[in-house]
Amino acid sequence: MEPSDASRLQPGDNVLFIDRKEREYLRRLKPGGRVHIRGGTMEADHLIGLAEGCIAYNTARERFLVLRPSFAQLIPNLPRRAQVIYPKDIGPILLWGDIYPGATVIEVGTGPGALSMALLRAVGHTGHVISYEARAEFAEMAQANVRQFLGETPNWTVKVADALAGFAERGVDRMTIDIAEPWQLLPAAAHSLRPGGVLLGYVPTALQVKSFVDSLRTHGEFAAVQSFETLVRFWHVKGLSIRPEHRMIGHTGFIVVARRVLAAEKAVENALTP
Ligand SMILES: C[S@@+](CC[C@H](N)C(=O)[O-])C[C@H]1O[C@@H](n2cnc3c(N)ncnc32)[C@H](O)[C@@H]1O
Repeated sequence: MEPSDASRLQPGDNVLFIDRKEREYLRRLKPGGRVHIRGGTMEADHLIGLAEGCIAYNTARERFLVLRPSFAQLIPNLPRRAQVIYPKDIGPILLWGDIYPGATVIEVGTGPGALSMALLRAVGHTGHVISYEARAEFAEMAQANVRQFLGETPNWTVKVADALAGFAERGVDRMTIDIAEPWQLLPAAAHSLRPGGVLLGYVPTALQVKSFVDSLRTHGEFAAVQSFETLVRFWHVKGLSIRPEHRMIGHTGFIVVARRVLAAEKAVENALTP
């Protein structure tokens, strides 16, 4: 079968070069430029127009498999200065955060923008993502990453603001929080999320889980609280050697999910109204 046009590498594409030892190198194909990897180079113009899945050699005779990165391959290779949420957690965050096409989502703590990209892909063109980031340099980095890897995103609003000062948006469907003390945001989150909305927090330590869950349970406008972590173990499958990999990502963060509900007095009053 002939490769389709969608498979052909285009000028400006971000491409993953995978060597014989399965090490990954993310590079951009700049017309007229050279791709430098492991002491050798390749002419970008020779690669542009080839189909994904091809094999290329650099001037040092190193062999590479050439592919555009999947989203899971992109995240660990993303330019960054702050910790990103790993692919193993981003999948469950999208599912348990119930991020759906057309949803309006607030993201708190944009960092390099790994989760922003996943949220933008999940809400699609009809949805809207509003990202709050306290530090201008991270907001800029996230915007550069999103532009480079997703292109233009008119449905993404980045606000350089301290989320503790509150959210301007009301009737929001979903909210994700990736900052150290997410419980401090509960009053503002309750104002901003619509009843039935989903709040999802991502925290690295057990004490943070406790503070967050206790605060959610005592707040009065959050319920159905669940906490979990994800463990993903890759397997080595080669010949008769079929076993878990020796190394795995042991710990990243805990995911805490809750639903925004009506305060107890209001919920009863509404249930009794004919
Ligand atoms: C761990 S990083 C987020 C990484 C991001 N989720 C990703 O996957 O790429 C946390 C970010 O939250 C930002 N932050 C911390 N406190 C904040 C606040 N009160 N309001 C807005 N942003 C805040 C930090 O500047 C930092 O960029």
